[in-house]
Amino acid sequence: MDIDELRKRSVVFAALNDEEAATLMQLARVVNHPAKHVVFQEGEAGDHLLVVMQGRVKVSLISPDGKEAILSILEPGDVFGEMALLDGEPRSASVTTMENCAFLVLWRRDFLPFLERNPQVALKLLAALSKRLRSTNDMVGNLSFLHLPARLARILLNLGQQYGKLTAEGIAIGLKLSQEELGNLVGVSRESVNRQVRLWVESGVLDYTHGTIILKNSDALFRESLNAER
Ligand code: CMP
Repeated sequence: MDIDELRKRSVVFAALNDEEAATLMQLARVVNHPAKHVVFQEGEAGDHLLVVMQGRVKVSLISPDGKEAILSILEPGDVFGEMALLDGEPRSASVTTMENCAFLVLWRRDFLPFLERNPQVALKLLAALSKRLRSTNDMVGNLSFLHLPARLARILLNLGQQYGKLTAEGIAIGLKLSQEELGNLVGVSRESVNRQVRLWVESGVLDYTHGTIILKNSDALFRESLNAER
């Protein structure tokens, strides 16, 4: 991803002119990681943030007995690691690559003075944090108020909106997700997700082979997502 692309896709670069963007690039380093690499773990100290340049990562919480709750999936242009950088507290979640990834790394000692000189970037970052809080609120609301089919339907429709491609068969979600990961995204066991997915595959609502999901009848999923209270 070049500077022009970064300015289109990343809040950190969006509000910068050519010269400011080039200055920020000079402060950054590019790192590459293969798929399934733990970029950092919840609880570690953190003095840098990362901008995704290539690939996708998952942000998750891991329970003491190893269960995972996926908070978000981030893609090129997205920033993570800004929380520990800004408040000096430990990392609030773990981040793992889902594919081969490239990141731009920026350190606190460089980035905070840069933010002071470029308050428009701080405003963009605040807006991005607000958006993130909104989607976490949605997730908490869904977990608290919706039963499994509605929750799963909402998540699948969101994934379709974010990562979907229209094909002859329906909306193909361009993410390889195991049923376990899907469960971790919805907040239920793999078995429960499995059961619901099987029902929808049998009734032609979706197709699910080798981790690739195709939404064949998004109207039916949408109706299911409105079928709210648990
Ligand atoms: P940090 O706390 O430094 O390390 C973990 C990162 O995960 C955090 O910064 C954010 O960038 C990201 N993160 C934490 N919670 C969420 C969330 N609810 N949604 C999306 N991203 C998050």
